[in-house]
Amino acid sequence: MTRLAPGAKYFIYTYGCQMNERDTEIMAGFLEEMGYEAAERPEAADLVLFNTCAIRETAEQHVFGEIGRLKAVKAERPEMVIGLCGCMAQEPETVEWIRRHAPHVNLVFGTHNIHELPDILARAADTDQLVVDVWKSAGEEVVENLPSRRLDGVKAWVNIIYGCDKYCTYCIVPYTRGRERSRRPEDILREIRALALQGYKEVTLLGQNVNAYGRDLGTGYDLADLLADVQKIDGIRWVRYLTSHPWQFTQKLIDAVAANDKVCEHFHLPVQSGNNRILRKMNRHYTREDYLDLVRRIREAVPEASITTDIIVGFPGETEEEFQDTLRLVEEVGFDNAFTFIYSPRPGTPAAVWNRRDPTSMEEKKERLLRLNELQYALQRKRNERLVGRRMEVLVEGPSKKNPARLSARTRTNRIVLLPHEEGLAGRFCEVEITRAHTWYLEGRRVGEPLPERRVPLAVHS
Ligand code: 5AD
Ligand code: SF4
Repeated sequence: MTRLAPGAKYFIYTYGCQMNERDTEIMAGFLEEMGYEAAERPEAADLVLFNTCAIRETAEQHVFGEIGRLKAVKAERPEMVIGLCGCMAQEPETVEWIRRHAPHVNLVFGTHNIHELPDILARAADTDQLVVDVWKSAGEEVVENLPSRRLDGVKAWVNIIYGCDKYCTYCIVPYTRGRERSRRPEDILREIRALALQGYKEVTLLGQNVNAYGRDLGTGYDLADLLADVQKIDGIRWVRYLTSHPWQFTQKLIDAVAANDKVCEHFHLPVQSGNNRILRKMNRHYTREDYLDLVRRIREAVPEASITTDIIVGFPGETEEEFQDTLRLVEEVGFDNAFTFIYSPRPGTPAAVWNRRDPTSMEEKKERLLRLNELQYALQRKRNERLVGRRMEVLVEGPSKKNPARLSARTRTNRIVLLPHEEGLAGRFCEVEITRAHTWYLEGRRVGEPLPERRVPLAVHS
């Protein structure tokens, strides 16, 4: 394979969660340090990377389809380098599939090997064979001081914990991302201070399981302590954290969200099911009653809280009655948004084995999903309607993707607000009045002046 020269163009496909989006920023940072430049389209690139997600089968099929499509492009330009990384790289089935069906792929590397990217590219340059570099043991350490090319100048993602030890029986993440490893607080705080100096105003603390943060460090320092320390960083205005587990979501953490005004009142708490037998089979460590109690305590401490969730329908063995428990829970909680999925069997997980004997048909599962969505959308719209006439602070993100004549902004509770277009408002905070509510977004108009732009100091030391 040819060695890529400085000035070569790269394109990265990114699938899945924010952890993957953050990994893409780090890979782009490495590539730009090596002198490569971003390409607009994969067809125009010398290096194409697929940063993949393994959480459901549909995401995987999309990747296989796109890799197949690039075969013809590479036949025209044999010097093109194609790599697959991210969660799918950690599945042995993927490497087997590539060997059999996609000989035009040059390299495969795992979620733990991102910092070795320059080395992996150099190794691939010396061989025509597929280079495979995936993590094999669970004992990986956290690697610090990675380069990065952040894709937004106002909002930044910051990893705080990698991996997940929870082993929900449907989920592949513990197998692809390994055990929980927290970054040291001083490393995280140093990174956020540097971001603040560069003019970033919002940070989202990332992890598959952010409320497990710190447990592996053994110092007693946890997410609540971290939020209190981030609160003290000048220049950062909003702080978010994703994703939490309803198990071990402590009262101390709820109180920290209530006490630190930079921490947004948005709680993403995947419930997965409203039925206790299914929750037990899923290995979720909480009951329906525990979850409802958590919601009650959150609303008591943070009355403005928006609560969003993830739900799986058609888990192996889920009966119609058990599914109805989920519908009832959705009604009882009143979620502000819900990401809903049909159960997808993942190789190597316990639930995939149970799924072979599941009497419920795919038609029925699809129908359950439709019923759940219909209920959730109606409730969501009603919750949004309560906000008409209210004033709230938003961060203006830029032109709306669907309607570029309008600006898209976000509330602290993570709702989208569309505003009439105005020059110079993107990237700034302002107060808006909500004028209309829809299921997926609000409409509003600016009231009062936007916050003045923060001046970025000339020299940045971190
Ligand atoms: N099938 C369907 N949905 C899944 N999720 C995780 N694993 C699966 C699976 N095997 C969902 C969960 C999780 C979200 C990120 O993806 O709801 O919270
Ligand atoms: Fe997967 Fe469960 Fe870990 Fe979330 S908590 S990443 S669903 S194993």
